[in-house]
Amino acid sequence: MNPSYSPHSVVLGGSGFVGSHLCDRLLEAGHRVTCVDSLLTGRRSNVAHLDGRSDFRFVEQDICSPIAVDGPVETVFHLASPASPKDYYTYPLETLATGSTGTRNALELARRHGARFLLASTSEVYGDPEIHPQQEDYWGRVNPIGPRSVYDEAKRFSEAITAAYRRELDVDTVIVRIFNTYGPRMRAADGRALPAFVSQAFAGEPVTVHGDGLQTRSFCFVSDLVDGLFRAAMSGEAGPINLGNPEEITIGEFAQEVIDCIGSPSELVFTPRPVDDPTVRRPDITRARTLLGWEPRVPRKDGLKRTIDYFAVELGFESAQRRVTDRASRRRSAPAARSAVTVPS
Ligand SMILES: NC(=O)c1ccc[n+]([C@@H]2O[C@H](COP(=O)([O-])OP(=O)(O)OC[C@H]3O[C@@H](n4cnc5c(N)ncnc54)[C@H](O)[C@@H]3O)[C@@H](O)[C@H]2O)c1
Repeated sequence: MNPSYSPHSVVLGGSGFVGSHLCDRLLEAGHRVTCVDSLLTGRRSNVAHLDGRSDFRFVEQDICSPIAVDGPVETVFHLASPASPKDYYTYPLETLATGSTGTRNALELARRHGARFLLASTSEVYGDPEIHPQQEDYWGRVNPIGPRSVYDEAKRFSEAITAAYRRELDVDTVIVRIFNTYGPRMRAADGRALPAFVSQAFAGEPVTVHGDGLQTRSFCFVSDLVDGLFRAAMSGEAGPINLGNPEEITIGEFAQEVIDCIGSPSELVFTPRPVDDPTVRRPDITRARTLLGWEPRVPRKDGLKRTIDYFAVELGFESAQRRVTDRASRRRSAPAARSAVTVPS
């Protein structure tokens, strides 16, 4: 290949939280990037800093319509999908359409260009798992008709059609299963645990934790995840490969870490668990370590600080900080009024 040639990557869902960081990473690596996004749950502002670059192009399009991209394409990254429970409860039919018709259009794009195809699947394909930690050869336990199924089954279908395109049509594909990821450019109101905890803690409001808070998750900082996506795409592997941070924490402890990191007077309040909310979640990343030489490097303490710094600006740090301080001083002057921790019966 000509040494001055820049490979062309298409990032579907590229103006979302993860996709926008992936666009940055690909450009850093010398790729030309076409970002395709319908802006259903993503934000144009996530990639606005790339406008004006000759090696970056933004195309507003729903991938449920056929996707046409000019010129050669080396890699198609398919990240387009509502991803937070709040988003896929709001857009259940769009989520199913994007996972099915959208994924087929994405695969067709890769097939037409002879491109490598990466599917951003999810740990949700394991459902509420019976084995722990989750390895890639575990088939999962998903309720096919519950409210989460619009996302879980859309992703399972995406995996199935990706595997079929590989088997039947020789498309060079890789499936990665992403576990909970966090970092700057998450939306404050996307309904995921961390943005909710941070927003509540900044406001000095009770921090709401589902159930008894003993359910576990593992949180991967976005730069680590993007490094894994890049390595998976550049490898010759087919996957599925788990990408996530194997360090597990209970949701209650995680909420408390956020409160402590912000220095907020907020207290934990426990609310009913959502239907089919998984009890445990931790990736086995042996495959990623051995096949991609990948593992997460950013300690949670550092990742949390960077994310909280981002939200401080996003939420208006001055006013958020003032509310925290005001609330703390009111509580100090009236200790009897402190709200008790509410635990569900
Ligand atoms: N963030 C995580 O913790 C996590 C965990 C597991 C899997 N994933 C997967 O990674 C991908 C990115 O997730 P995210 O957290 O960045 O979510 P996000 O909502 O921020 O990004 C998804 C992007 O896809 C776009 N999109 C949705 N439907 C589309 C359509 N039909 N056509 C074109 N664009 C469309 C949205 O507008 C958005 O910009 C998703 O596929 C998600 O399932 C993320």
